[in-house]
Amino acid sequence: MLSATSRPVIEATLPVIAAHIEDITPVFYGKMFAARPDLLEGTFSRANQKNGTQPQALAGSIARFATWLLENPDTMPEELLARIAHKHTSLNVRADEYPTVHEHLFAAIVEVLGDAVTPEVAAAWDEVYWLMADALIKMEKGLYEGLSADVGYTPWRIAEITEETESVKTFRLEPADDSVATPGRPGQYVSVRLTTEDGLLQARQFSLSCSPESTEKRVITVKRDQDGEISPVMHSRLAVGDVIEVSPPFGLNALPSDDGRPLAFITAGIGITVTSAALCSLKRAEDSRSILAVHADKSFSTVARLEPVKQAIEALPNARAEWFLREETGADHRTDKVNLAELGVTPETHVFLCGPMAFMQAMREQALEIGVAPQDIHYDAFGPDIWMPAPGNPVQ
Ligand SMILES: Cc1cc2nc3c(=O)[nH]c(=O)nc-3n(C[C@H](O)[C@H](O)[C@H](O)COP(=O)(O)OP(=O)(O)OC[C@H]3O[C@@H](n4cnc5c(N)ncnc54)[C@H](O)[C@@H]3O)c2cc1C
Ligand code: HEM
Repeated sequence: MLSATSRPVIEATLPVIAAHIEDITPVFYGKMFAARPDLLEGTFSRANQKNGTQPQALAGSIARFATWLLENPDTMPEELLARIAHKHTSLNVRADEYPTVHEHLFAAIVEVLGDAVTPEVAAAWDEVYWLMADALIKMEKGLYEGLSADVGYTPWRIAEITEETESVKTFRLEPADDSVATPGRPGQYVSVRLTTEDGLLQARQFSLSCSPESTEKRVITVKRDQDGEISPVMHSRLAVGDVIEVSPPFGLNALPSDDGRPLAFITAGIGITVTSAALCSLKRAEDSRSILAVHADKSFSTVARLEPVKQAIEALPNARAEWFLREETGADHRTDKVNLAELGVTPETHVFLCGPMAFMQAMREQALEIGVAPQDIHYDAFGPDIWMPAPGNPVQ
């Protein structure tokens, strides 16, 4: 909880900080990487700095956290914090780096806002920073403690590579050492760490595209981003037998246990990896819930994980798929826009979204209109989460 001294100062200065925070975060990262270039070697994504999404995610999260403290003095924005904590732990972020971020963030605030940062203002924002940092450190400690013996990265051998589509490959991985692996759940992701073409170590996250039958396997499905640094390397450089560094699985979106309510997976493009993992696991459990899988794409030839998804749908007693394929000419699909009410999504459905931000926003709005409760709408962002921290968007 914010102290009585800091509360009015935060109330008075939040609009100024919020208005300038997107100027502050690039200055912060510039200072931090100048002092600690090693943090770009294997921890932070160079691309997310250059395309601006990570500074935007950090800025949004701090402004949203401070707003939350003012509006809900007795609670914390648990989901916002948990999403960050899972991302941090997947990148092996350690508690002893929080003072580093603090030092450079506050130097950036002073540089951008100048004399407006009086000692009272600095002290109040310091308090906000450490409330957030302490909450994250505590969550991250719990996540690290919940792992088997695979904290950080462990070596995994590529056992099989399957070409899914012209731009998507599935990698089946097996442990390349004897450290005990943490089991993964559908909806979770791992970080994979590799060197770029110019030799910089970089990590990227990939959802488990089939929840493993045992901890002896991880399956990830990777779409090549022509403008990207790591996915093209994974497509062109990796071969069966190669060993790569992989983190344990993290991420919030585990399936709810059977409460008799329907499940709907609404995805677009490579977001289908999340549906694929869930259906894999539901099929294995012979789940009898009502399940709807809606997927939007160009055509069947661009849909990754098509066969495993179709097989699971056939095997599950109450599951159906609806394909929205704008350029497909064959049968068994639709070309109109997804309309969740028409597809039979009901207010009690657990909804899972994964796809481009605009697609997820539209689907969330439709689900809310139907009467689905906000806490029953889950989503995965395949990049720094710039959605949840934005004003008016989903935090709990
Ligand atoms: C939780 C999570 C789960 C994910 N699951 C999957 C999954 O299952 N399958 C999957 O394929 N992907 C998944 N992703 C996305 C994946 O992590 C990568 O973001 C994606 O593969 C692109 O990585 P990349 O290294 O090829 O591209 P990056 O190097 O990260 O580049 C991304 C974009 O940044 C821009 N960019 C890059 N360099 C520059 C530059 N120098 N200047 C300006 N802009 C630049 C380009 O527009 C590029 O398209 C997931 C992401 C998250 C966070
Ligand atoms: C209170 C302090 C901090 C806050 C508020 C914060 C906030 C965030 C947010 C909002 C994200 C994006 C999450 C997402 O993608 O969904 C993120 C990612 C990340 N954070 Fe933090 N963070 C903090 C401290 C740290 C520290 C101490 C480190 C380690 C040096 C760190 C390293 C990272 C990395 C490497 C990423 C992924 C960035 C990328 O994709 O390049 N963070 N953080």
